[in-house]
Amino acid sequence: MANTTWSRRHIISLIDLVAEEYETILKTAASFREVLSRRTKKVPALQGKVVANMFFEPSTRTRSSFELAAKRLSADILNFSPGTSSLTKGETILDTAKTYLAMGADIMVIRHKQAGVPLTIAKAMDDLGAGVSVLNAGDGQHEHPSQALLDLFTICSLLDSKDPRLELLKGKKIAIVGDILHSRVARSNIWSLTAAGAEVHLAGPPTLLPKLFSEMVEDDRAKLLKLDWQLEPALKNADFVMTLRLQKERMNQNLLPSLQEYHRLYGITRDRLELCRSGVQILHPGPVNRGVEISSDLMDDPQLSLISQQVTNGVAVRMALLYLIGSTKS
Ligand code: NCD
Repeated sequence: MANTTWSRRHIISLIDLVAEEYETILKTAASFREVLSRRTKKVPALQGKVVANMFFEPSTRTRSSFELAAKRLSADILNFSPGTSSLTKGETILDTAKTYLAMGADIMVIRHKQAGVPLTIAKAMDDLGAGVSVLNAGDGQHEHPSQALLDLFTICSLLDSKDPRLELLKGKKIAIVGDILHSRVARSNIWSLTAAGAEVHLAGPPTLLPKLFSEMVEDDRAKLLKLDWQLEPALKNADFVMTLRLQKERMNQNLLPSLQEYHRLYGITRDRLELCRSGVQILHPGPVNRGVEISSDLMDDPQLSLISQQVTNGVAVRMALLYLIGSTKS
């Protein structure tokens, strides 16, 4: 196990994560990846701890990934489904959290369609002196830290499988393409990738690309961030292309003429990848709208697509996050 000096109780956002913390996460995830390659894929690191998986919004991979990660660490896991919970009887989210606290939850993994819910619960738990850790599993359009961290781990592992580390990304170009306006994945990735010294080039239709990003990044990382309404400048010489789902459930107005038109202008296809550096690799957080943000054949091409590796690495990265915050409890 990596020797750590981790002190953060909650992981809500990546905005203020420092290089040492990223390195600790990468190293810890690499050691758990090794555990997951063994015959017995389980360690007693969180034995006796309770992880509450509180997903107030639909999820396949993130929810299952956290569940498996907790199980591989020998934690006890409470799974919450809003449709069959007391939320339907009018219980508030905070009361749900307090109920889990009363059952002895040590870590709450929270996803909610509203930005700010994980932070609110973390603050409430701190005010109660509960010693509970909160991990943001995606809040509205705000952030999705564990996704960005597994993306970082996947990219760094590709560059050096034995020793994935931040410096490998220095000077690399990453294009993030698509519905950036509604994407919490993009918002978290901007912090992690620029912290690593990568150039991040955002591209999407004007209706789906907020100008605000250039204002968000205020420190010297600002020069690493570029925005474009056209795809070509973003793809030119890119080392990695991260394509994002059109988040139709978050669009409350007609922001696009049609899906075909979107694919014609912004869809990632084999031809378009010619603009990138040779050896370019594609990421997508999933779920994918096949044939919309990415052509179907490309998505399934193991030479070009890192999508399955992202999912596989997600378990090791989430084990690392649960382990690190789980070890801060006094
Ligand atoms: C993302 C999410 O929920 O924000 N998916 C995920 O967690 N793997 C992206 C998306 O829904 O498009």
